Amino acid sequence: MRIDVLTLFPEMFASPLNFSIVKRAQQRGLVQIALSNIRDFAKSSYNKVDDSPYGGGAGMVLMCQPVFDCLESVQKQDSNSGRVILLTPQGRKFDQQLAKELSAEKRIILIAGHYEGFDERIRIGTGAEEVSIGDYVLSGGELPAMVIIDAIVRLLPDALGDEDSAANDSFSDGLLEYPQYTRPEEFKGLKVPDVLLSGNHKEIDKWRKQQALEKTEKQRPDLLDKHKKSEK
Ligand code: ADE
Repeated sequence: MRIDVLTLFPEMFASPLNFSIVKRAQQRGLVQIALSNIRDFAKSSYNKVDDSPYGGGAGMVLMCQPVFDCLESVQKQDSNSGRVILLTPQGRKFDQQLAKELSAEKRIILIAGHYEGFDERIRIGTGAEEVSIGDYVLSGGELPAMVIIDAIVRLLPDALGDEDSAANDSFSDGLLEYPQYTRPEEFKGLKVPDVLLSGNHKEIDKWRKQQALEKTEKQRPDLLDKHKKSEK
């Protein structure tokens, strides 16, 4: 898989992409991540990439030309022109389902804006889909791009170690994950549930399923409604 990110701040990505599972996945050739600086494509004086909004209002808006030129240059680097995604608070809400869908793509291109947003013609002219990571406003699309990359890369075949599995993750079956315990058996008077020490895998599976249901009912009843409908 190839992931491109178009951003004004490529340096922001250095640390999150160079640790843990995402680092390992790149080293093992499961994913190639390429960062492009939109400012390198600015043509106007002072490398200008943003301007004030028509109609007035606060803040600055990302201009069409540098983004279009950057995207065109990046798309040309590969025969697959990729699924193009604009990070905005107005987009489709990112969730585990969309993470799965994107992890099956051969190439995705994430465009991270900054300031008050994008000139609307960037969305219209590129045909990009908009994706949001939640109902709150961040200073730019960089953190959302990193969140999306992390969620996608860990789903790539072989990205997790043999002992790990994405199959039991929260949301993978529409429920929150069951509670986990490790050594010691007792800590500050708090004991590991007996069933987990029993070695009875049938009982352990039953307990985990029950715990996942209870946790979801308590913390996220909205998910439980959806889960019940899909089970039916
Ligand atoms: N840019 C600013 N806020 C955002 C959000 N919540 N999701 C995606 N991109 C954003």
